[in-house]
Amino acid sequence: MTPLIRICDVKEYIGETVQVRGWLQRRTGKGKINFLRVRDGSGSFQAVAFRPTLGDDLFAQVKSLTTESSLLLTGVIKADERAPGIPGGYEMDVCDIEIVQIAEPYPITPKEHGIEFLLDNRHLWLRSNRQWAIARVRTTVIRAIRDWLDDRGFMNVDTPILTPAAGEGTTTLFEIDYHGVPAFLAQTGQLYNEANIFAFGKVYCFGPTFRAEKSKTRRHLQEFWMVEPEIAFCKLEELLQIEEQFVSYVVQTTLQKCAAELQLLERDTGLLQNVKPPFPRISYDEAVEKIHAAVQAGVTVPPNDEALADIVWGEDFGAPHETYLASQFDRPLFVTHYPTVCKAFYMEPEPGRPEVCRSADLLAPEGYGEIIGGSERMSDPDMLLAAIEKQKLPQEAYHWYIELRRYGSVPHSGFGLGLERTVSWLTGISHLREAIAFPRTLGRLTP
Ligand code: 4AD
Ligand code: MG
Repeated sequence: MTPLIRICDVKEYIGETVQVRGWLQRRTGKGKINFLRVRDGSGSFQAVAFRPTLGDDLFAQVKSLTTESSLLLTGVIKADERAPGIPGGYEMDVCDIEIVQIAEPYPITPKEHGIEFLLDNRHLWLRSNRQWAIARVRTTVIRAIRDWLDDRGFMNVDTPILTPAAGEGTTTLFEIDYHGVPAFLAQTGQLYNEANIFAFGKVYCFGPTFRAEKSKTRRHLQEFWMVEPEIAFCKLEELLQIEEQFVSYVVQTTLQKCAAELQLLERDTGLLQNVKPPFPRISYDEAVEKIHAAVQAGVTVPPNDEALADIVWGEDFGAPHETYLASQFDRPLFVTHYPTVCKAFYMEPEPGRPEVCRSADLLAPEGYGEIIGGSERMSDPDMLLAAIEKQKLPQEAYHWYIELRRYGSVPHSGFGLGLERTVSWLTGISHLREAIAFPRTLGRLTP
């Protein structure tokens, strides 16, 4: 029987007759030869249809094939280094074609389409080489994340998506009706992770999180995926070591496993090669000093070369500040000890300096901004209660969270890595919306 193969495995079958199932990306050629660029989800290659081999009838049918027509091809695999495709370098001499469906005229053509058109047609746009490559990087990143954590004893414990209270501030909550009671889509799984560490030591959750972000930016989605590790008996310094090991593994694994995809995306991987521990660390105070100096020097920042705006101590950084700070280093940068006022209620204050907290954001190079937010958590129940009151959060909703600190409280820390931010950085794309199959952005819920 003829083996049915996937195009990614084509090099194992040189000289053999095989079957491939897929879709036609492009058809070229004239006279008695047609070149069919076929993709099957695992890769793409060129299938050569030759009239004397196929016979006049079948060849006439081949010539009627439209873009995205679905096919079952039988033929002999040949190595030819000039043959286009992914992996490339192999082609098929077709002996037989079964046409599954002749596709209707396909709306996405090789000409340039506007972004709104492409987003309206996201269900089809996913088939293009570029989107395919990004999605492959995403799945590789997910796998690397899980491998690293699973191999180091982190237990995956899933946290709820329907929640009774805010995890990350009240301004970005999606409220829903939970049988007559208001509930919210999870902004984070962290609070539940903190319960889970007391049972399991080191845990992570990895799932969709929701933020009703009111402004349109390249870096914000309404629904994004976040992996959140949480560790008992862990202080900030140890947390940063875990983060730099983790991020380095994810980056190096992706470089290794997705070389073809990154090449297709024309990603310059020079700076990514540097992503190895240790990462530089600066405090928020030092970062503010650097920004003051840069403003004095008239520094401008990409992508629009706008002048860097100054900052007042206590304010959070804007995207241009993050871009500037990260550009001063050759690998991701930790900024630690942010002002307590610009961070979430649960962060442990720095002893002797309660106006700053034991937090760290990780800023990616090349303008990709914050990919990780993390901190040491408050471990004292009374301090936590005071912080909740100060931020005017509904105390009852956090009763259980405070109670965690009454039974064997320990220093503990954790972080959240944004998947789409990480994938955007690794693939070098300019907007988060291409880093997820069906992006949810301000003003767009379809398809
Ligand atoms: O800094 P954030 O808000 O931290 C938390 O949610 C913590 N509870 C995490 C933790 O300590 N367990 O978000 C973490 C990361 C950001 O660094 C960013 O990468 C990503 O989540 N992120 C977003 N990604 C896409 N769209 C948005 N609207 C995002 N908001 C945050
Ligand atoms: Mg953050």
